[in-house]
Amino acid sequence: MTLSALRVIAVSCLLLGCALAQCPSGDDSSVQGLLTQAISKAKADGVLGDKDFIWGTATAAYQVEGAWNEGGRVPSLWDNFAHEGKASNDTGDVAVDFYHKYPEDIQMMKQLNFTHFRYSISWPRVMNGLQRNEEGIQFYKDLTAELLKNNIEPVVTLFHWDLPDIYDWRNESLVEPFGQYADIMFEALPDVKYWLTLNEPWVFCKLGYQWGVYAPGVVSETDFLTCGHNALKAHAKAYSVWKTKYQASRPDTKVGITLNADWRAALDPTNPDDVALSSKEMDLVLGWFAEPVYGSGDYPQSLKEHFAADAPVFTEEEKASIKGSSDFFGLNFYTAIYVDSTKPYGQHETVHRNGELIGEETASEWLHIVPWGFSTMLKYIKNVWNPPSIIVTENGVSDGRASTDKETLVNDYGRVKFYQDYLTEMAKAMIEDDVPVTGYIAWSLLDNFEWSQGYAERFGLTHVDFDDPALPRTVKKSGEYFGSLIPNVTAQVEACSTGNDSTVATQGGDQQQWQDDWQQQDGGDNWEGGDQQWLR
Ligand code: GAL
Repeated sequence: MTLSALRVIAVSCLLLGCALAQCPSGDDSSVQGLLTQAISKAKADGVLGDKDFIWGTATAAYQVEGAWNEGGRVPSLWDNFAHEGKASNDTGDVAVDFYHKYPEDIQMMKQLNFTHFRYSISWPRVMNGLQRNEEGIQFYKDLTAELLKNNIEPVVTLFHWDLPDIYDWRNESLVEPFGQYADIMFEALPDVKYWLTLNEPWVFCKLGYQWGVYAPGVVSETDFLTCGHNALKAHAKAYSVWKTKYQASRPDTKVGITLNADWRAALDPTNPDDVALSSKEMDLVLGWFAEPVYGSGDYPQSLKEHFAADAPVFTEEEKASIKGSSDFFGLNFYTAIYVDSTKPYGQHETVHRNGELIGEETASEWLHIVPWGFSTMLKYIKNVWNPPSIIVTENGVSDGRASTDKETLVNDYGRVKFYQDYLTEMAKAMIEDDVPVTGYIAWSLLDNFEWSQGYAERFGLTHVDFDDPALPRTVKKSGEYFGSLIPNVTAQVEACSTGNDSTVATQGGDQQQWQDDWQQQDGGDNWEGGDQQWLR
């Protein structure tokens, strides 16, 4: 165990009281017990190498920073989109003021025992066209230094959707500038051990260049394919800059991309057409980017057939540069949907089977709670691409529509249950199917600007009071849950690897305790299948 982990435990012990952590028995089915077994196995199998499991929480620049026109920052597509009223009449102008409040937020992460923090760099903050903006670069140097000073490792995303408004993903001319931008940041932040080039190209291409609901708001039948094509080239460019200029001197650092997909399940698993549609849909959503990067270097065959003459074509040289351009599989996972082959293509998605919802509703229309989708997705990735490691770079759930009452939002036991259920599925996939998960990053540290939904949907482990100009933060129950889970699992993993019991703060680690608390809070509502209205 590292010195910092010991310190965390010592402080937690002072605050919460301690007990001896023991290596759980194989039939311990608590979340904590399963996670301990899963991480211990990843250690024993060499999946983790000499690293500890990543326990992180995430944000993205435009969603939290604010300070949109401070420090030499130039406009992004999202500034323009939001200023035109297209994000539910909200903007990221102030957001949650992370730009000024990050030292306070880092203390909060520390208090919650997170080992890693995923943040994104705002390209328009650090570059004005091809010119460097030193003040912007210094901001990320300071943020990184503050994290490291507090023993929190940064996981840094280069592009989380706030494209400088002089660029357009449909135009290949942004590939070179993206490489230059990546170069500047790799050089500026030598202590960062994990880099993500692009966050969810499926989302920013489909929603931004087909459906027009995200910036830049383009509605088109085919532009999203051009966007994806250039996104893959830009990613490969950044990776090749990394490889040629930095990798040799920083052998410990990993660079990759992060992809999203909802699991596409056959509506009727006994209908071969539904099964075939599910497989094709996984190709069109995840395979679109994963197959070039982790597989052949090219698009899946089914994608080429589906889009026929509209499918973009890579040169052999491009394929060679894209193939293998990620050191790990970055996955953002939230939910699952059914696909129904009896419906015309385009109307084939449904969240109902025999009148039953696929999972509980949340504040986000697209997000149903489907824990089994998580393990299914993890196993799928292992079976299809067999990456050396998978880092879950986002997972979380929204509320804030059914209730805006602070007390209700802070007592988010439904979110605690969401995390317990999803983490259980992740641990089982690691234990039973050898899925090499090396990290888990919860979305999000803070309630924040949820893109076109503005501030209506809250994903935070921490509540932000948007009505108070000081934007005060209050840790939610879900934040406290991680605060106890992480050191407890860490100490148990330690006990398993050394054969010695180790000391750990125990309060709040027990799953049952959270269930009892919730029942009390909710006046007897049931943990399993209770009325989770408030989660919407
Ligand atoms: C992801 C995105 C995040 C966040 C989250 C919740 O797609 O990367 O920025 O908004 O969804 O919707």
